[in-house]
Parts: sequence; structure tokens; C-alpha cells
Amino acid sequence: MTDDPVLTELLKVLEGNPEVLPLRVRVIELLAERARYADALAQCATALGQDPGNEQVLALLQQCTAALANPGAQTSAAPTYSAPAPQQPVAPERPAGFDWQAAEREVEDIVAPAFVDGGEPVAVAAGDVGRFGKSKITLADVGGMDDVKQQLDLSLLGPLRNPELARAFGTSARGGLLLYGPPGVGKTFIASAVAGELGANFYPIEIADILDIYTGASERNLHGIFEVARRNAPCVLFLDEVDALGHKRSQMSGSATMRTVVNQLLTEMDSATNDNDGVYILGATNHPWDIDVALRRPGRFDRMILVTLPDPEARVSILRHHLKDRPVEGIDLGAIANRTEGFSGADLAHICTSATQLAMADAIRSGTVRPVRMADIDQALAQVRPSAGSWFESARSVVEFANTDGAYDELARYMKRMKLR
Ligand SMILES: Nc1ncnc2c1ncn2[C@@H]1O[C@H](COP(=O)(O)OP(=O)(O)O)[C@@H](O)[C@H]1O
Ligand SMILES: [Mg+2]
Repeated sequence: MTDDPVLTELLKVLEGNPEVLPLRVRVIELLAERARYADALAQCATALGQDPGNEQVLALLQQCTAALANPGAQTSAAPTYSAPAPQQPVAPERPAGFDWQAAEREVEDIVAPAFVDGGEPVAVAAGDVGRFGKSKITLADVGGMDDVKQQLDLSLLGPLRNPELARAFGTSARGGLLLYGPPGVGKTFIASAVAGELGANFYPIEIADILDIYTGASERNLHGIFEVARRNAPCVLFLDEVDALGHKRSQMSGSATMRTVVNQLLTEMDSATNDNDGVYILGATNHPWDIDVALRRPGRFDRMILVTLPDPEARVSILRHHLKDRPVEGIDLGAIANRTEGFSGADLAHICTSATQLAMADAIRSGTVRPVRMADIDQALAQVRPSAGSWFESARSVVEFANTDGAYDELARYMKRMKLR
């Protein structure tokens, strides 16, 4: 290992600081890049002992299990770092020390795995907020959601694919679509898929992250974000948690400052749609009823698309998607779908990850890799509960008492059909 200074150095530091999880994660990545899957798995086991649900570790664990289960991907059993697995580009070595940690700012868990482009999202220029990159998922990766896909097709993707036709009919592709629905149903996921579908950059922003209590800073952040989006067109600019603007929880709500932030967003949105072809704005929120009314006016977030819980068919495709790169045996997707009424896409993803983790733990204990089986799924199912229940509680009062303008008719119909009210 003396021939691998970076790894040697990191292992030494890790020994002295065994509790620093990001460091262990980096070590696992390096071990995996060097096809040292068994060592990587041992580190995964330790890391999961420290943080059982860590998505990054679970993803690495899955990658290493798959590599071990599929000997074709394994170039060498010898613990050498110079022979990484094929199709697994070795990331340029980063200097030891901890600079990379600063450079690798946390992104929403969905975002990181959704990027390609050498594997890493691109940090935008200093002073700007967040990251953008090419999305590697397309609508085909999104399970179910036929209605949502159809609406996106009608108002955004269709006109973009057929600009002549759209002009003839006097329509044009417009951003300003607002996805809403319970948490974990795939709003962020489908936004990333839209970017992938267009081959556009995906630039996801959490509104709460740009809010700053200092006068003017939020507006500058917003302007910077739109500038980055324009510079990197075609770009899907995804504004997540739009309700943070004017939300009751916000420390700035009701203040004059918040009003200027909303106005800044309106200005940017107007110029994004007018002067700038190629910036498509998608918004998302779990609480559309908390959104500033000015943002819902024509030309802004004027069309709301309800994203609902997946039906059985959609559950099958979500489960298939989340098990497709994992070693499985005897899994009956239909049977799982029948037992997961009320589960969101995120709940289902969680079940798949937990089941894989259980199989993995077993493999680490026994020293032999085995596939994920129904028994693992059963065990995972016993631990995961549907998470969207409380959302429908709030939705019920909105539909009953605050739907005077019919904005929530679609939600009302859905809840009636699902006997949720
Ligand atoms: N329709 C779907 N198809 C495949 N995976 C899904 C779907 N919906 C949700 N997921 C999974 O659930 C996770 C959380 O979804 P997310 O888009 O973050 O939900 P939301 O933004 O609505 O809260 C996604 O990263 C994805 O793994
Ligand atoms: Mg989201």
C-alpha cells in the first residue's frame, strides 16, 4: 500500500479519527475505485454501524455488492489499486488533506446520484449557490406518474420537441410549472428526469438555502442563480420548497424583506421566460397553500401539477427501478406492490435499500455474498411505515375550507377517489 499514498494517508488519518464519517466514505470510494471490494464492504459495515441510513454509504455498498456478485466487473482479486474495474472511471486523485470536503458541499440526496458528467456535479462559480450538472435519469426511470408525464409533455416537452408545430398552434414551451403533492412522491426526481429528457443541465435550488436575513443578500443570491442558469442554458432550473417564500415557518415571513425577495423572483422569472430561451423553471412544494399568491399569477407558477401516491402499477415500476442494479432472487414485485398501498416512492425506495442492507449484513456476517430475497423485503416492510399520512390531514382541510377558487379540484377529486376524505 506504500505505492498508494493518497489511500495510505487517508487510512492513517481515519485510524486517528474513526468517527469522521465523510472521511470513511472517501476511503470506501477509493477502495471501490481500486476494485478492493471486500475491504470496501468491511468499511461500509463500520460506517453503517455509525449511521445506519446513510444514503451515500448504502449506494457504495450496493455498488460493491453488485461488483462482487458480478465477477465480470471484477478485474483482479489481488489488492492492487492500479487495476480499477472496467467502466469505472477512476476519479482524478485529490490531494490528501481535507480540501475536498469543502469542495463537496452537500446536495439533496436525490441530486448527487442523478448527475453524470464524469460522475460529479459541477460546483458553480464561487459566490453562487448550489450545483448543476447533466441529469442521468430520464422519464423512463420514473415509475408510474402517467398523468404527470402527460401534463409535462403537453406543456413543456412536446412544444420543445416540435417548436414549429407549437408556433402554429400559438403555444410555446413555458416553464413556471409547479409540482405539488405529499413528500417523497418523486417531485424532485421527475424534475431531474425532465432535465435528462431534454439533455439540459439540471440546477436544483432549495429556496430556504438562498434566504438570508441580511438585507439584499437573498435577492443577490437569486439573481446569481438565474445568471448561472442563463449561462448554462439549456437548463432546467428547479426551485424546490417554493413555499419557503412567505412561509409561516420562515424567520423572514411577513417582513418587508420577504416581499422584496418575492419581487426579485418575479422579475427573474419574467426575464427568464422572455429574454432567455432555454431556461425552464420548474417549482415544487409540499405546501402550495403556503405559497405567496403573487407567485401563482399568470406567467409565473400558474399551472399546478398534482403528484400523487403511486398506484399498484406505478409501485411495481418504482420497485423494479430501485432493484434493477441489485443482486436479487425470487422477488415478486406484484406481491410487494399489493402490500404497499399508501406508500410513497421514497418509502418504496427505502424498503429496497433496507432489504439490500439486510442481505448485505448477512453477507458480511457469513463471508459469502447472497442476493436480496423476499425474506429481506418482508423484514424491511415490517420496519417501514407510509410517510404521507399527515400530509393528507392538512390537504383535507385545504380542500374542504380553502378551495374557493377551485385551485385544488384535482386534489379534491383524487382524495375522494382514494377515499381519503
Ligand atoms: N415515481 C418514482 N419512480 C422511481 N423512484 C421514485 C419515484 N418517486 C419517488 N422515487 C424515489 O423516492 C425518492 C424521493 O423522491 P423525491 O423526488 O425526493 O420526492 P419529493 O421531491 O416529492 O419529496 C427519489 O429519490 C426516488 O428514489
Ligand atoms: Mg423534493
